[in-house]
Amino acid sequence: MSRLETIENSANTPWHLRDNWEPLHVEIKSTDLRVEGTIPPELDGLYVRTGPNPATGFSPHWFFGDGMLHGVRIRDGRAEWYRNQFVHSPSAASARNLPYDRVPELARGTGNTHVIPHNGSLLALEEGHWPFKIDGNLQTLGYENYDGALTCSMTAHPKICPVTGDLLAFSYFSFEPPYVHYIRIGADGKLKQLDPVDVPNMVMMHDFSVTQKNVIFMDLPLQFDLGEIASGIPFKFNREAGARLGVMPRDGRGSDTRWFEIDPCYVFHSVNAYDDGDNIVMHVSRQNEAFGSSSDDYAEVGRLYKWTIDPVSGKVTEEMVDDRPGDFGRVNDAYVGSKAQFAYLMSLGGEGNSEEPVYGSSLWKYDLSTGQCWEHHLGATTRGGEPVFAASSKITAEDDGYVMAIVHDTATEKSRLIIIDAQNFTGPPLATIHLPQRVPYGAHGSWVPSGVIAM
Ligand SMILES: [Fe+2]
Repeated sequence: MSRLETIENSANTPWHLRDNWEPLHVEIKSTDLRVEGTIPPELDGLYVRTGPNPATGFSPHWFFGDGMLHGVRIRDGRAEWYRNQFVHSPSAASARNLPYDRVPELARGTGNTHVIPHNGSLLALEEGHWPFKIDGNLQTLGYENYDGALTCSMTAHPKICPVTGDLLAFSYFSFEPPYVHYIRIGADGKLKQLDPVDVPNMVMMHDFSVTQKNVIFMDLPLQFDLGEIASGIPFKFNREAGARLGVMPRDGRGSDTRWFEIDPCYVFHSVNAYDDGDNIVMHVSRQNEAFGSSSDDYAEVGRLYKWTIDPVSGKVTEEMVDDRPGDFGRVNDAYVGSKAQFAYLMSLGGEGNSEEPVYGSSLWKYDLSTGQCWEHHLGATTRGGEPVFAASSKITAEDDGYVMAIVHDTATEKSRLIIIDAQNFTGPPLATIHLPQRVPYGAHGSWVPSGVIAM
C-alpha cells in the first residue's frame, strides 16, 4: 500500500494534509469554466499561484510539500482555461515514477512558495534552492541558476524593480558564514552581483524589502537550531539574539550594509518600502515571535506595522497600523520600492490557534498614508488567499485595476478565482470564476500580463 493510500482525512492527519490543505494528486486542464459577473475585457494574461502539495500525499511539514501551480488564462472577457501542474522537481518526479536526470543539490527544490515573471519566463521559487523556470502553460523548463553564476540558494521573495527590471534577491540558506548573500540579476537574466553580507547567525530570512536606492535585510532571531529538527524545521526563536535591519545600497557592497537595532520580533512578509528623504519607510506584517513551541506552531500572527529607519539618529520607529491580524501584503507591482499609497492584505483567523494557520474571511485594502482600511468580506464560510493586484491597461491612478485571489468555501468545498474592482473594494466581485476542482490553500502568486511571457 502506498503512503498515499494510508493517509486518511481524519483528525489524526496533520493539519497541512487535511481539509482544504489536503493535496491534489491529478493534474487537469479545463476550458469550460462557469463565470458569474463580467471579467473586465481589458484583462489579458495569466493568474498563477503556487503552494505546497506533496506528490506522495505526505510531507513532514507544510513547508516541504512539492510545488503545485494553479493558473487561469484570461482574455477577451473570458476565462479560457484553468489548469494545475506540479512543478517538475526531482521530488515530484520521484513520487510519480517519472524519470529525472541527476542534478546538483541546489536544483532539488520544490518551487512551492512563489511564482513570478522575470526575463520572459516564470520562476517558481522556494528559499532553500534555485528556482525553476516555467512556461505560460505551467510546464517546467528546468532549474534556473543563471548560466551557473548563481552558486547559492535564492529567496522565494525577490523583488522586481519596476524601473530597471532588475531582480533583487538574497540567499540565507547557508550553514556556514557568510550566511547571507545579496543577489542582483539584470532584466536580461544575467547575474550582476553576488555579494556576501555579514550576519552573526544563520536565521530564517523569508523576505526582504527594496527601495529605489536600498535593500533592507531583516536579521530577526529565528535561528538555525538542530534541536528543532524533530518538529520539522530546524529553526527556533531566540529573543536574546536581538534583531536588526540591515540597509545596503542596491548597487553597493555587502560590506556597506548598515545595521539598525529593533525590538526582537518576526516578519514573514514585508509589504513594501520606500525612501523618504534620508529615512526609509517599510510596511511589514510583524509578529512578536515565530515557531513558539515548535516549528509547527502558528499561535503568533502578524499585524501591519510601519517601520521608519532614521539613519541620522540610528533609530527605528515602530508603529502598529492595525491591531487585527493580517499578512500576505501586496502593492501594485509598479510601486515596488516606491511610495505606494495602497496595500492589499489577507486577514488571518486570529491568535491562540497553534494548530494551523487560519486564512481569514476578508481581504483588506489599506491607505498607508492614513491607515484607513476597506474590507472585502468573502463570506462567513469562505477563506481567502493572497490578494494580487492587476493594473488596468489604461491606468490613471495607483489603484486603477483589480485585485485577484483564489478563495475557498469550506461549506461547499468549492474554490473560485475572484476579481474585485480595486476602487470599489467593498463591493461584490466584478467576476467570480468557478474552478473545476478544489484548490488547496497555498502561498503566493502573480498576475502576468500577456507579452511579459509567451502564452
Ligand atoms: Fe512567503
